[in-house]
Amino acid sequence: MEEVTRILAIETSCDETAAAVIENGRALRSSVVASQMDMHARYGGVFPEVASRQHVLSILPVVQEALDKANLTLDNMDAIAVTRGPGLAGSLVVGMNAAKGLALGSGKPLVGANHLEGHIYASWLYEAGTENPPEAPGFPLIALLVSGGHSEIDLMTDHLTYQRLGATLDDAAGEAFDKVARLLGLPYPGGPSVQKAAESGDPAAFKFTRPKTDGPWDFSFSGIKTAVLYTIRDLEKAGQPIPVNDIAASFQATVIDYLISKTVDAARAHNVRELLLAGGVSANKPLREAFLKLQNDGFKVHIPKFAYCTDNAAMIAAAGAFRFMHGHTSGLEVDVLPTWPLS
Ligand code: KG4
Ligand code: ZN
Repeated sequence: MEEVTRILAIETSCDETAAAVIENGRALRSSVVASQMDMHARYGGVFPEVASRQHVLSILPVVQEALDKANLTLDNMDAIAVTRGPGLAGSLVVGMNAAKGLALGSGKPLVGANHLEGHIYASWLYEAGTENPPEAPGFPLIALLVSGGHSEIDLMTDHLTYQRLGATLDDAAGEAFDKVARLLGLPYPGGPSVQKAAESGDPAAFKFTRPKTDGPWDFSFSGIKTAVLYTIRDLEKAGQPIPVNDIAASFQATVIDYLISKTVDAARAHNVRELLLAGGVSANKPLREAFLKLQNDGFKVHIPKFAYCTDNAAMIAAAGAFRFMHGHTSGLEVDVLPTWPLS
């Protein structure tokens, strides 16, 4: 019989309580996400203490549901993977302690996973039983990782090997979407509501310049956000209505163009033909379309399925599985790492 490596993964780094089961690092047997979004919407952002207490309530039912959906039990697992960081300390601790308890009780090894690595490994996922699984990303590749807390361009020359070529000097890309949404009076979470408003706006209506950075592959988003703020303020001062959709569309187009051009530059400078998009902002439809279009320029392009763009445990299962298959496990004494860079 074929040898199968099965991992149960837990993710609680922010406001989603999630668990998933994966086989051989890629074939997903189940993925369950309990979102707290409605709870945080009234605060206009994630309220850390509310998040950790909600994780306490949801974690075991979510784990049980993931096992049930996979038609498997803890006994069938080879290891328990869990997000160690980066993320909110109080949220990470809940998932970590649940994973330690399950590892201790079952005698299975524990694997600490990096949340950012998880976002990248989302591109390896497919649902178990898929007839023709997509080809796995190959190396070397350039990863554009854009989430609510991080924005960076990484060169991967092999599995689990990252060289950071550039990163944001201030806000993350997702954070910029969230802040601009707030400026425009659009509801939380900001990314999807800016995208929606932009659908009926003119992306050429306003010109927001792309900030220059010393590092060729670094980003700066706070300048674009401030430009949006001044545009709104000037219109208000002049007693004019705020063209919310046009501003959203112009902002979004500027950010996408900025992200894509830096990624392509970095790939060309390093002679890399494979590109990978990762992180919550990869859920953005026009960004996905622009990234896919790079295939016309001779690049091989990998974007995660929409369901695995924003936080989930499937991606932690994939990253944890590759760590485990490369011989990495963690002792039961491991701590969470709220700040934990990829490279
Ligand atoms: O990866 P993620 O779920 O959480 C972090 O690890 O940070 O990313 C969340 C970020 C938020 O800033 C959210 O506004 C952004 O991803 N986001 C989007 C879209 N969906 C989520 N940004 C732009 N367009 C979207 N459709
Ligand atoms: Zn994330």
